[in-house]
Amino acid sequence: MKSCLLFSPLFLLILLVTPFYNAIAQKKSLDQKVDSVLRLMTLDEKIGQMNQYNGDWAATGPITKDGDKQEQIKKGMLGSMLNVTGTDHTRTLQQLAMQSRMKIPLLFGQDIVHGYRTIFPIPLAEAASWDLPAIELSARVAATEGAAAGIHWTFAPMVDIARDPRWGRVMEGAGEDTYLGSLIAAARVKGFQGKGLGNTDAMMACAKHFAAYGAAVAGRDYNSVDMSNRQLLETYLPPFEAAAKAGAATFMNSFNDLNGVPASGNAYLQRTILKGQWGFKGFVVSDWGSIGEMINHGFVKDNYEAAMAAANAGSDMDMESRSYIQNLAKLVKEGKVKIAVIDDAVKRILRKKFEMGLFDDPFRFCNEARENEQSNNPAHITAAREVAKKSIVLLKNEKQLLPLSKDVKNIALIGPFVKAKSDNLGFWSYDWPDDTARIVTLWEGVKSKLAAGSNVLYAKGCEIKDTSRAGFSEAVAAAMQADVVVMTVGEARDMTGEAKSRSVIRLPGVQEELVKAIVATGKPVVVLMSAGRPLVFNWIADNVPAIVYTWWLGTQAGNAIADVLFGDYNPSAKLPISFPRTEGQIPIYYNYYNTGRPAKNDSDLNYVSSYIDLPNSPKYPFGFGLSYTSFSYGDIELSKPVFKPTEKLVVKCTVINTGNYDGEETVQLYIRDLVGSVVRPVKELKGFKKIQLKKGASTTVEFILTANDLRFYNDKLQYIFEPGDFKVFVGGSSASVKEAGFTLVK
Ligand code: NOJ
Repeated sequence: MKSCLLFSPLFLLILLVTPFYNAIAQKKSLDQKVDSVLRLMTLDEKIGQMNQYNGDWAATGPITKDGDKQEQIKKGMLGSMLNVTGTDHTRTLQQLAMQSRMKIPLLFGQDIVHGYRTIFPIPLAEAASWDLPAIELSARVAATEGAAAGIHWTFAPMVDIARDPRWGRVMEGAGEDTYLGSLIAAARVKGFQGKGLGNTDAMMACAKHFAAYGAAVAGRDYNSVDMSNRQLLETYLPPFEAAAKAGAATFMNSFNDLNGVPASGNAYLQRTILKGQWGFKGFVVSDWGSIGEMINHGFVKDNYEAAMAAANAGSDMDMESRSYIQNLAKLVKEGKVKIAVIDDAVKRILRKKFEMGLFDDPFRFCNEARENEQSNNPAHITAAREVAKKSIVLLKNEKQLLPLSKDVKNIALIGPFVKAKSDNLGFWSYDWPDDTARIVTLWEGVKSKLAAGSNVLYAKGCEIKDTSRAGFSEAVAAAMQADVVVMTVGEARDMTGEAKSRSVIRLPGVQEELVKAIVATGKPVVVLMSAGRPLVFNWIADNVPAIVYTWWLGTQAGNAIADVLFGDYNPSAKLPISFPRTEGQIPIYYNYYNTGRPAKNDSDLNYVSSYIDLPNSPKYPFGFGLSYTSFSYGDIELSKPVFKPTEKLVVKCTVINTGNYDGEETVQLYIRDLVGSVVRPVKELKGFKKIQLKKGASTTVEFILTANDLRFYNDKLQYIFEPGDFKVFVGGSSASVKEAGFTLVK
């Protein structure tokens, strides 16, 4: 028996496996290392790498409870887990993986979307900063904290273009614009991945949801998407390509079908475009259960067919549908999925595990001292406040009501968010009991600014979703005693997010009535809007003198808002998404096509493309946001009126700070291709610059345009530019611009 075992293939395998990390470490290239491991793996072990289960919490889909996960890890049936957090917990599970025959480390993933312990503004709010270094910093801090807690991989950034504020996930992306969204996608990837995978403060990024999830019909989450390939390539895919170019380690596919083919079974997206044209070397994880959900789509009959469709289409890892673990071996044996498909997927996954350094030390992210240190890092708090300030959009400021004086005698803070804690965090943030004390409320933020003699009154007025007006009289009484009232209204943190689509995007409950009651006192009122999406709030917009959109700003919300309210920070953010007048205008976005019957203006109803009951324009346009100061724009100067594809066109515009404060402006450049072989948008963002100007100062902002900036997809899906006439616009919002014209010649 002994000699039998000694010369059995199993024994030889064990001999090989035992010192294999050392031997492999000597190999030269990453591919060689990966191949060395792959060669030793059985088919079942390979399929195990393609399988991912949820841990114990934060489920956003059905969890299959069958089987014992711990036993499965020991058998090598699992390559990754999500929602396992903390160095203790990840260590325990990694130790189980080390008991498996191949000792391949697990990858731990989690939705670290806008912070881990220190919560930053929601991504849509951060996008309003148009500040790429700030956005990168936010992701950097999130990764530093998450990686210190044993997590290797964040399911972020979400880079879906979203033109529909009903869609709950609008909060998670960068808004409606492809150009801005692409730059932000790259910044977030860089932030998460830091100096590169392998550093213990870097997490793998995951660009999601591939693709076009943001175009869900009627803004209803998980819904179908139907669009032309031209639209897909031009509007929805560039942020993904930017993420891939920035080195995103992984992609996640999406719940939706795209033109009839569910993303998880979509070979055009995953094989032709992502892994083919873009040469993506990372791996693709499915969304939660999305492989199995292809049965509900009516695309496959059962999990067997689902696994076949997904694997062949290039989905490398199955998040929680168990289709792979249950069916892939049979599919390979029956020749329905080639072993080369499995090998390719497994190699992609192993490569990342090597790059993360997990084969050298599977526990390198399990350092409790680092976890403690990073969870309480004061620099992270400072960063969160900075980014939060930059995300706040000033929408209205009549008679310069803002900034408020710090010497105000009597100020009333009214509304359900004044003392709220976790509603500041927003969706995709975790409630750490230890961290609740760290969340700065508006109440605390304002109190910290005011002189000792100031009298700060408070009344909640109503709950967020309340139908009761019982608290109104107390609120009115507080307002009556005040010199100025700051009201805070909005959405609860669970009202925008995954599975949180709304058909009516107004203030919930009786909050708008509360505002009306307070405005009726005649006191000067500032309204702060706290929400995860653009809301419709016409009465407030038209009747309240000062409005500040504060989104969900995270841990430092109260301080950041107070910085803006009292002028320690002059607001500079600009909307990354159009705000509709009513839900009936949705989808609404600035870069629409002109149509054959364009309306001349908002009151043009003469058989033109318009509504008889509503202007076409949004309530607040893309790119809009005020400052306490004002800026005026000079005429555009072009280096030449006509330019060739080999040349550069210099676009200059002088901006003057004409107000009474130093301030920051985001100077935006748009173009319009006047005649194209396919119709072109009325405006397309092609550049922006953030400038700081002292009061009274001016500067000339310069942009360079090349023919590449004029490219688009023609009807043959070629990415081309066409000679002809163009307009160029420069201004402080998509709706307020100077314009000039130029011609591109051959
Ligand atoms: C479903 C969501 O669509 C996705 O974005 C998320 O990463 C996974 N659940 C995991 O939580």
